[in-house]
Amino acid sequence: MKKHIVLLPGDGIGPEVTASAQRVLEAIAEEFDHTFTYESKAIGGYAIDEYGTPLPDDTTAACKQADAIVLGAVGGPKWDQNPSHLRPERGLLGIRKELNLFANLRPVQGFDNLLHASPLKREVVQDSDLLIVRELTGGLYFGQPSERRNDGASVVDTLAYDRSEIERIVRKGFEAAQVRKKHLTSVDKANVLESSKMWREVVEEVKSDYPDVTVDHMLVDAAAMRLITNPTSFDVIVTENMFGDILSDEASVLTGSLGMLPSASMREDDFGLYEPVHGSAPDIAGQGIANPLATLLSVALLLRHSFHLENEAKLIESAVADALDQGYHTRDLHVKGGQVINTEQMTGIIIDFIRANSATT
Ligand code: NAD
Ligand code: IPM
Ligand code: MN
Repeated sequence: MKKHIVLLPGDGIGPEVTASAQRVLEAIAEEFDHTFTYESKAIGGYAIDEYGTPLPDDTTAACKQADAIVLGAVGGPKWDQNPSHLRPERGLLGIRKELNLFANLRPVQGFDNLLHASPLKREVVQDSDLLIVRELTGGLYFGQPSERRNDGASVVDTLAYDRSEIERIVRKGFEAAQVRKKHLTSVDKANVLESSKMWREVVEEVKSDYPDVTVDHMLVDAAAMRLITNPTSFDVIVTENMFGDILSDEASVLTGSLGMLPSASMREDDFGLYEPVHGSAPDIAGQGIANPLATLLSVALLLRHSFHLENEAKLIESAVADALDQGYHTRDLHVKGGQVINTEQMTGIIIDFIRANSATT
């Protein structure tokens, strides 16, 4: 198979984990005789410094030509005081919007050897396996007006959704539930927000198209509590943009580290941008110690969802499980015993397991 992949390394640990992704993609290509070509493009703070904008036209154009995209992370203290249009985060929001990547899939699955790496009790996190389906191109992040009022004494952010935007993401939630445990929890704040009231209406309207799925509604504050007290009560969560952002960082605690959580940002077809859930981690950037597994698990999602290479995807996922089973972990994972290794070493170990496991299958 021949495919062209655009890499958007970005800032902080972004380039470190993206380099890891490229090495693993190359190992997969070699093992399976695929030809993957790569092109690295500027985004975020790096793009601001080099080109004066967080999302150069040339980056958007390259992404539109690609078969899939891998993004590291954007942002950092260097640009925190910039005006809104010159913030690194604008680059990420811009590419999501330009490519219409409205469906952000964030699977949260614990690995056996990391059960005690979570600050939560083992019996609470054991067997947790859920998927957050986060709306990604609407809501508070994109509603207009969003401005600082002229008097300097007030500000406004707007939470806006069209019914059609709600319907397409809710349907993604139902479809995801159909191929999992057939349980959908729609998370909203319908006791207060108009947008959430419409969200609930839409869920109620479309549910008859998915009679095999059990659906319930939960308020976001209660969902936040339940996520860490009874995570196994969830299968698929579908929710609006900002609720999904917050709940997914919270859910990462189940896995032991934010450095473990992958994501796929998709539209209606198979095209996607694959990105770890975490950010640019300025506190550890440049030290070569970032956990690359969130990005490598995102690469597995890329192979599965955009290239339909299920065996290759599984091989990465089982290599990650094997590495953790052998006690290898990066510093962010508070695992008892085992061996703390850096980004490059972890990447090498994952590649070794990919090669060894593919030889035996
Ligand atoms: P963060 O996710 O960057 O870091 C939070 C904590 O988790 C830090 O202690 C960090 O060291 C740790 N961490 C995160 N990923 C890790 C990894 N792979 N390995 C080891 N440790 C890891 O969140 P933050 O500090 O709130 O944000 C920093 C910057 O990142 C901000 O500018 C923010 O806007 C940006 N951000 C970008 C993205 C993205 O590009 N997708 C996502 C979230 C935050
Ligand atoms: C994420 C990040 C982004 C978001 C930021 C950096 C704009 O937190 O991908 O989760 O809020 O979507
Ligand atoms: Mn986030």
